[in-house]
Amino acid sequence: MTEQKRFSVRNDHILHSGIFNSTLRDWQGLKCEITPKNFMYPIFIIEDEDAVQPIDSMPGISRFGINALKAHLEPIINNGLQSVLLFGVVSDLPKNDGATNADSSQNPVIKALPKLKSWFPNLTIACDVCLCPYTSHGHCGVFRNDGTVDNTASIERISEIALNYAKAGADIIAPSDMMDGRIGAIKTKLINNGLGNKVAVLSYTAKFASNFYGPFRDAAKSKPAFGDRKCYQLPSTSSGLALRAADRDVAEGADMLMVKPVMIYMDILKEIKQRHPEYPMFVYQVSGEYSMIYQAASKGLFDLKLGLMEILGSLRRAGADVIISYYTPQILNWLQQPK
Ligand code: PBG
Ligand code: ZN
Repeated sequence: MTEQKRFSVRNDHILHSGIFNSTLRDWQGLKCEITPKNFMYPIFIIEDEDAVQPIDSMPGISRFGINALKAHLEPIINNGLQSVLLFGVVSDLPKNDGATNADSSQNPVIKALPKLKSWFPNLTIACDVCLCPYTSHGHCGVFRNDGTVDNTASIERISEIALNYAKAGADIIAPSDMMDGRIGAIKTKLINNGLGNKVAVLSYTAKFASNFYGPFRDAAKSKPAFGDRKCYQLPSTSSGLALRAADRDVAEGADMLMVKPVMIYMDILKEIKQRHPEYPMFVYQVSGEYSMIYQAASKGLFDLKLGLMEILGSLRRAGADVIISYYTPQILNWLQQPK
């Protein structure tokens, strides 16, 4: 008997994982206007299910327990919210080197996913995947005793967490750890577990080692205990590495790409969008950008709505399809108002 050869689909030949619901399909071909579909709202979820904790360094933004989050999200969804990006924040669960509580049954994101899915079946849910909120050292990967990254162990753990978020109901896995090969490791894990066409991977492709993440690290309690993240996040002046990262993540099977932060990296945004125009391009207007705009507007330097709309239009012009912004609830409100 002759051996039958089975055709197997390469990671980067899977198209279905980027088109399995109408929101994702819309992302494949958006024009330049600003609509609710252009926004993803980042949310911090905490252990205490009824709590709301305002974040000092991000005025107007709070961490939510899942029950409080339901009430917070209802009016925003009525205003057209399409997608959220979830971050877990823990203060009672122990942190350790293996980040075991990133995906334990007690993890606030793992617990929130089935509830959010049942309350809001049309909401597309992305989960940030990283170790830093759950490691004792606050770094994004598994570290060796000498303080360097163990890349192999890191992508194994990251892909395991990704799979558990996917099993709990995540539509999109968004790894922000910046370990080499994480996109391929996650894709392979999802495919091997029958989720290859049901869960998308949004790569934090060009994530720069930035001074503008400070307020987020307060919010997520994820500040590194020693050193910085410069050995795994991109050097801010390197466009070469950003383009190599984009080519690599595409080859490893990413469904969507991202640039982060964005306002001082719009050259990178435009270059990556031109190089990979067939991929939905995300930008993350990060915590430091949020707070900078907030402080300037509250000092009367410009009108918040007008200033922000100018910024958002510029991001779209430069090539952004989807903007991850803490201003999303306010923007959706404004989009409801008559022009
Ligand atoms: C964690 C992570 C960070 C952000 C998203 N995921 C911070 C960091 O890398 O230290 C930044 C988001 C923001 O500043 O709004 N890996
Ligand atoms: Zn991290």
